[in-house]
Amino acid sequence: MITLEHAKEIVAKHITEDHLIKHCYAVCGAMQAMALHFNENPEEWGAIGYLHDIDFEKYPEEHCQHVEELLAPEGISASDIRAIISHGYGLTCDVKPETNLEKSLFTVDELTGIIMATALMRPTGITDLKPKSVNKKFKDKRFAAKCDRDIILQGCDMLGMELSAVISLCIDGMKQYMHELSLEGHSA
Ligand SMILES: [Fe+2]
Repeated sequence: MITLEHAKEIVAKHITEDHLIKHCYAVCGAMQAMALHFNENPEEWGAIGYLHDIDFEKYPEEHCQHVEELLAPEGISASDIRAIISHGYGLTCDVKPETNLEKSLFTVDELTGIIMATALMRPTGITDLKPKSVNKKFKDKRFAAKCDRDIILQGCDMLGMELSAVISLCIDGMKQYMHELSLEGHSA
């Protein structure tokens, strides 16, 4: 089983940009919370979340198409590689999310972006961020416009979960990494 420590070692070889590393932590935390929700292993789900954009910095135009060549030599299992590739479903590949892990990754990838952007605007960061505030920003399509709302709703549908429930889990999960995400707030 992949551990978060191993995932960090692999990511350190392929991702250098600060905002991308922050995104790794955001998705990692969100996936840990989703794992707990489904009674699955948070270490494993978090590690896969941390790894999910492994080929993005080197191959932004061919995202998800270089996952296997980067991760197979590291001993990552075929099912974990499939899970990572499937987060690009409908965007960069046609590997459909099937398992709860895959559906979760597909959903939280974009959603953590909206949560990050919402928390960044607040003096208290993510510390007391409520799902309601994120919901409001979700509806404002001009806010964090790059985060694809349709993908997130499609993901919630696959999961059979309400958007607000997924938002709530993502906030909880991301809070664990508030320092790595620089979302601990800046109260004067
Ligand atoms: Fe991502």
